[in-house]
Amino acid sequence: MQTVAIIGAQWGDEGKGKITDMLAEKCDYVVRYQGGHNAGHTIWVSGKKTVLHVIPSGVLHDHCTSIIGHGVVVEPENFLKELKNVQSITTVDHKRLKVSENATVITSYHRLLDAARESQGPEKIGTTGKGIGPAYEDKAARKAVKIKDLLDKDILYKKLSNGFAEKKVLFKELYKIEVPSLEEETERLYQLGQQFKDYICDTFSILDKAISQNKKVLYEGAQGVLLDVDYGTYPYVTSSSTSSAGILTGAGNVNGKVDEILGIVKAYTTRVGEGPFPTELFDEVGSYIQKTGNEVGATTGRTRRCGWLDFPLLRYAIKCSNLTSIALTKLDILSNMETLKVCYAYEIDGKQVDCAYPGIDLFKAKPLLKSLKPFKDDFKTNEVSVELKAYIDEIEKGLGIPVGIYAFGPDRAEIKFNKTYF
Ligand code: IMP
Repeated sequence: MQTVAIIGAQWGDEGKGKITDMLAEKCDYVVRYQGGHNAGHTIWVSGKKTVLHVIPSGVLHDHCTSIIGHGVVVEPENFLKELKNVQSITTVDHKRLKVSENATVITSYHRLLDAARESQGPEKIGTTGKGIGPAYEDKAARKAVKIKDLLDKDILYKKLSNGFAEKKVLFKELYKIEVPSLEEETERLYQLGQQFKDYICDTFSILDKAISQNKKVLYEGAQGVLLDVDYGTYPYVTSSSTSSAGILTGAGNVNGKVDEILGIVKAYTTRVGEGPFPTELFDEVGSYIQKTGNEVGATTGRTRRCGWLDFPLLRYAIKCSNLTSIALTKLDILSNMETLKVCYAYEIDGKQVDCAYPGIDLFKAKPLLKSLKPFKDDFKTNEVSVELKAYIDEIEKGLGIPVGIYAFGPDRAEIKFNKTYF
């Protein structure tokens, strides 16, 4: 295969980072195409933990070039901090990390607006507070600062001024908060841009050439399909295209189709922030999964809500993103539990619903649960128990696509492949 995409099939936090890291071993390019540092991709190598937010998870492989595509929103201060952290682990320079000149810049104004809305606004989304939504708003309104603008102070000032008159009213009159002046913000961003100017380039042409030369490309999605601004549980979503559709708008896949679209599925369901969650567990089983799975956000430190695996939502995610196979993660967390259930359908207004099509009201969905025999695997050998095999079979049968990878721990050695991707 030449091109593979990794897509979160739930509400994010499925364990995409470690699968990307594993597949990156065999590919030439890893490409981020949407989102920003709201993502938190945790990778464990030989017991050492690295959390990546906006830098692609292929960066720990020396042979691999990492690309931040034009669909990504980049906060320069965070980017540089992350870059320094990665450089303390491995050698990374502009030859193998490229930032699209057309990616959108997250400014201080975006971050402050996000925070003000979340703390003072009437309708909380439960955002990560990183300024993601306001940055994408400016992009859609054609008022964004692009990465290339960081390199010219006059252009940067002009771009920042664009729309500032409106924002100033919001900050002063509505939210009553102090914000940096245009001059201060221009200087700050300019100085930051100078520190990574060598990394800024036209990433579209790099990808175009790579694909025409048959290089192997891995697209790394952030968040999950159910947080997609169009396909997700709107308005409780992020502001980017998290499904595979975002690849074409946020990076480019010239002359080609994506050969394999791998959906990352956690063996149970989690969600952070507000919004509907049909299989959410409010009892001790939910707390057990939360604690055992250490379900705490890598970016915000917030506790994640937990529930059983939800087939209607996954069937929908498969359709939205054309998923062709699944990587099933965190199976170890469900091992040794007293009960094991999956939601095979919902009951809504007395009717059975098999797929969470957008027309249905998820707040009203009552999960129909099937109990399975719990598995008690210790994963010390490559053999899986009859019960675990039955759980995997149930998932393949219920969703209609194969489980190509299963993971029972965070380390590279704890990820097993049933299928070859590159
Ligand atoms: P935003 O992306 O910060 O605007 O947040 C919008 C919604 O997406 C909130 O519910 C966040 O909790 C959720 N979200 C954003 N990024 C992630 C992620 O990487 N994992 C899980 N949830 C996320």
